[in-house]
Amino acid sequence: MGYGDHFTDASNTTVEDADVVPETSKLPLLSPFQLGPFKLQHRVVLAPLTRARSFGGIPQPHNAVYYAQRATPGGLLITEGTGIVADADGFPNMPGIWTKEQVEAWKPVVKGVHDKGAFIFCQIAHVGRYSHTSYTKGAAPVSSTNRPITSTQILVASGDALADFTTPRALTADEIPQFVDLFRAAARNAISAGFDGVEIHGANSMLIDQFLKSSVNDRTDHYGGSVENRCRFLEEVVESVGNEIGFDRVGIRVSPFVDDIGDASDSDPASLAVQIAKSLNKFRPLYLHVVEPRFHFSSEQHRATEDSLWPVRREFKGALIAAGGFNRENGNDAVKEGRADLVVYGRWFLANPDLVARFQADAPLNMYDRSTFYTPDPVVGYTDYPFLGEKLQEKPGEKKLGEKLEEKLDELKV
Ligand SMILES: Cc1cc2nc3c(=O)[nH]c(=O)nc-3n(C[C@H](O)[C@H](O)[C@H](O)COP(=O)(O)O)c2cc1C
Repeated sequence: MGYGDHFTDASNTTVEDADVVPETSKLPLLSPFQLGPFKLQHRVVLAPLTRARSFGGIPQPHNAVYYAQRATPGGLLITEGTGIVADADGFPNMPGIWTKEQVEAWKPVVKGVHDKGAFIFCQIAHVGRYSHTSYTKGAAPVSSTNRPITSTQILVASGDALADFTTPRALTADEIPQFVDLFRAAARNAISAGFDGVEIHGANSMLIDQFLKSSVNDRTDHYGGSVENRCRFLEEVVESVGNEIGFDRVGIRVSPFVDDIGDASDSDPASLAVQIAKSLNKFRPLYLHVVEPRFHFSSEQHRATEDSLWPVRREFKGALIAAGGFNRENGNDAVKEGRADLVVYGRWFLANPDLVARFQADAPLNMYDRSTFYTPDPVVGYTDYPFLGEKLQEKPGEKKLGEKLEEKLDELKV
């Protein structure tokens, strides 16, 4: 089974007349929300989605097209994971934000979104041990631990082969401030590029998650052991970034319940989730973005679980964004019941640039094509998903590269 195949809504459908979309809507998802200084006109947020199309780590004109397609007045977009230093990448053609050239290249992307009246946050990321020497110029990736990811393999930087994850080296406590500072500098660069704020990537087995999760963090210093200690690196990053750009421009993404990416799981995810909220409350950041406990990455099936985001919701003092397996119906329920302020959409937004209009019209959705999630084509599977009223043009042959990678991605279960 592929990523998201349990969804039944599966056609590239046309709606004859997009003008039938009503101007106003009573849908909870389409109600306004004041997110700190940002006046949002609806609650449908673009998820951070690695699309592997920023050649050489530099944002490209086609990236600007992709984001602008998904921008709506008063909407919020979060960029794909964006590297904070040369060896922070673990995906081919992942963009960065540590050089002047990258900052300049992000500017048209941001402008395209702002021109449409939307807001955009840059997800700043360090992959830690989710890496390979092809990304780190031969050096050992850094982590909270010396133990590598062993349950799966990684796509190497050239994008055409799989390899074992490289064995990382654990950061010493003395080195940690340098890494905190990389996040701070990246946040400063993001603001220089015009971003409205940053989202600190503390989810999905990236470096910060490698400190948070008990199955990875085997440290005996004050960054390991107790759940409070495991949250320390995240706290330091948030404090440093917030002091640099203002806490009302800082969001944090975490996935305490996700246990099927990069061997990162927690023995007590519910307590970890609540501790994260407590740790962050000290700084009053803009939002906390949490992946749902019911969301299972590799199987894509919603798992039956007693856990929910309610304890985090009650504990956290800022806005809460929920992610993971949402559709129009359960997204509306989450907002209506007050479980989340905003709802993030990944695969559906990837495949439906006009997702907000489709929700408004209750129109059918385009199905996403998993084979082109991470392929480098600047158009196919990227900016060619049809809007309401359009039909996807058949371009025989153009998906060959995607098909080639499909098998590899199946093995990776990403
Ligand atoms: C193609 C793809 C790329 C992704 N890249 C990122 C990323 O860069 N950063 C991140 O935090 N999550 C990433 N995710 C996870 C999504 O943000 C989201 O949590 C996940 O797709 C579940 O939401 P959905 O059910 O709405 O798709 C990615 C997911 C997909 C499918």
